[in-house]
Amino acid sequence: MTAPPVEWWECYVQVPIQASDRVSAFLHDLGSTAVILHEPAILSPHQEPCVTPLPSGEPQAVLQGAFAADTELSPRLTRLQVYLREQVAEFASAPWHLYCRPLRDYAYLTQWRDFFQPIDIENRLRVRPPWDTEPVPNAMACLTLEPGMAFGTGTHPTTRLALTLLARYVPPTPRGRLLDVGCGSGILSLGALLLGMPSAFGVDIEAEAVTVARQNAELNGLQHRAEFQQGSWEMADGVYTVIAANIYLGPLVNMMHALRQRLYPHGVMILSGIMTFQETALRTALDTAYLTVVEQLVEDNWAALAVKHQSALSGSSL
Ligand SMILES: C[S@@+](CC[C@H](N)C(=O)[O-])C[C@H]1O[C@@H](n2cnc3c(N)ncnc32)[C@H](O)[C@@H]1O
Repeated sequence: MTAPPVEWWECYVQVPIQASDRVSAFLHDLGSTAVILHEPAILSPHQEPCVTPLPSGEPQAVLQGAFAADTELSPRLTRLQVYLREQVAEFASAPWHLYCRPLRDYAYLTQWRDFFQPIDIENRLRVRPPWDTEPVPNAMACLTLEPGMAFGTGTHPTTRLALTLLARYVPPTPRGRLLDVGCGSGILSLGALLLGMPSAFGVDIEAEAVTVARQNAELNGLQHRAEFQQGSWEMADGVYTVIAANIYLGPLVNMMHALRQRLYPHGVMILSGIMTFQETALRTALDTAYLTVVEQLVEDNWAALAVKHQSALSGSSL
């Protein structure tokens, strides 16, 4: 009997525990349909799944992800290898391993549903998967998300922190628009609309993300207020009352001057996706763009910042 065609590949990455958050985010960002964290554990290619759990306190973790076996698979795995090589330089003493194989047991692809639980933001917004049918309190808006292959279910700290800051800073006026750079599943745009933003424009360099974001807009009846396009900040025109960007330090620093020019004089920028040890580098970039931090949130080792024009704050008590 011939084996069924391979439609997915799974990847296991053994990393030092301190690096598991960032590598998990990178796997999501690369398009892994789910990322399962085994912690502490080591990679064991001859087992099923390929992981041996270790006693608590051991310093190794294994991340398990899956990628569609399409034309993007090879470039994705190359990007993963390059990224891991860069990371190894920072954690030289710990062993890193990468193991990939065709996936024939599809059960794993639905197991991740267990990880997508509803989350509440500031008692104002519930984000939940389509299969959650619990009643939502009257005072809360509800965003239903089908994550597909795009990053952004609210289960990652960077998304939760950005949503929390949006809940605090989306202005209570019927005017204004939001720019969402790196929209992923559309979660920040759609969440902001439900929190009172009149309209949102989301961009992402990944075509798959734009498809998923549009589907999520339809799923929530928000398609007339949300537009999603493939690309980056260059797609944006005019100025925005709120700019949200949950990406990584490098792109955030590179686009800071451009984003500043697109921020309304009294607008607010919500920046997420950086680890606490990277904050100094981001603050330096903010300073050179005449932007200043008005609030900072931290969860695990991730930080998110609410930022305004320095000129908007001169003379104020902030
Ligand atoms: C960490 S995910 C965030 C997704 C979602 N906004 C959230 O908060 O959960 C980052 C997203 O940014 C996209 N991205 C990365 N670099 C980008 C860039 N330079 N311009 C636009 N999008 C980018 C990735 O494709 C990915 O979908």
